[in-house]
Amino acid sequence: MHPMRAVLVDEPGDETQLRVGDAPAPELGPGELGIRVAATAVNRADLLQRQGLYPPPPGASEIIGLECAGEVAEVGSAVTGWSPGDRVMALLAGGGYAEEVVVDAGSCLPVPERLSLEQAAAVPEVFLTVFLNVFQLAALPDGGALLVHGGGSGVGTAAIQLAKAAGARVVTTAGSDAKCARCLELGADAAVNYREGDFVEAVREVTEGQGVDVVLDHIGATYLANNLKSLRTGGRLVLIGLMGGAKAEINLGLLLARRLSVIGSTLRTRSAAEKAAIVAGFGERFGEALASGAIAPVVDRILPLEQVGDAHRAVKASEHFGKVVLRIAGG
Ligand SMILES: NC(=O)c1ccc[n+]([C@@H]2O[C@H](COP(=O)([O-])OP(=O)(O)OC[C@H]3O[C@@H](n4cnc5c(N)ncnc54)[C@H](OP(=O)(O)O)[C@@H]3O)[C@@H](O)[C@H]2O)c1
Repeated sequence: MHPMRAVLVDEPGDETQLRVGDAPAPELGPGELGIRVAATAVNRADLLQRQGLYPPPPGASEIIGLECAGEVAEVGSAVTGWSPGDRVMALLAGGGYAEEVVVDAGSCLPVPERLSLEQAAAVPEVFLTVFLNVFQLAALPDGGALLVHGGGSGVGTAAIQLAKAAGARVVTTAGSDAKCARCLELGADAAVNYREGDFVEAVREVTEGQGVDVVLDHIGATYLANNLKSLRTGGRLVLIGLMGGAKAEINLGLLLARRLSVIGSTLRTRSAAEKAAIVAGFGERFGEALASGAIAPVVDRILPLEQVGDAHRAVKASEHFGKVVLRIAGG
């Protein structure tokens, strides 16, 4: 086992606890690829993990980082279709903030030619989250309608693009007029500054009073009532985060009468087989759109690994639009 550079957390806490140091490189299993990481990207969940509030699932690396892009360094004995030197991007249960990772081959996708490895590092977590939740779990129909909160987030920028690629109408929310303008540029049909406007009203306008088929929500409690109001009969609310709290009252009569579903989901804790099905489904449905540039990761900034604290600070303050990428020198 040789050492590699990685981001370590001294004590659970704020950004000052993050430092680059040495960690043992992970060892390759038969069904895995070993990746020399060129870049990783920051996800909101990383901030929680740093604080000790979102421990990795059993068996996963203790190192932060849910995605990466780089070159295949090693191919497990049971893996076919990959060779050393291939450009690869991967969904990880952890370990991305490091020079090397190992990951089940089913969690990996080839990097389209038009994307740099830094751009590719911004793809897996948010595009696969949206594909799983909006398309596989909530079955957004082609030409349907989606409400997605936080249109300027990593997840939001992916959701706007995938829903538009599916011919859907998209209403989104964001915390400033500037972010709203960028959501419209990205293709959203309406963008509501949630500090001033009413998203239920915007949904009504865009859907001619029908409501949306699907709401993708990471706010939780404080948006629950208005999210349910925004759904059409038979609509689905998918909850993927709780930035606005976990406990709220729900009118079950509304669920019955309007045949609504509320779905909760996490991606990270799913089995390798489930992740492989999500990755394969995404590749089939949107692989070409990614290769042609019809959909693309939105990279707000690229920072060297040594500035990981600044990267976390920027995401905490929601300064970013899209993704904050970390370059891993020597990757
Ligand atoms: N369950 C899963 O499998 C899964 C997977 C991936 C991500 N997630 C969750 O999805 C969310 C987004 O993740 P991310 O990594 O893309 O994070 P991110 O880029 O940090 O996005 C969070 C966004 O929420 C916006 N926001 C904050 N308060 C809001 C409010 N009241 N209404 C609407 N928007 C609000 C923020 O920007 P502004 O306030 O400036 O608009 C920011 O753009 C996080 O909660 C994350 O934990 C869940």
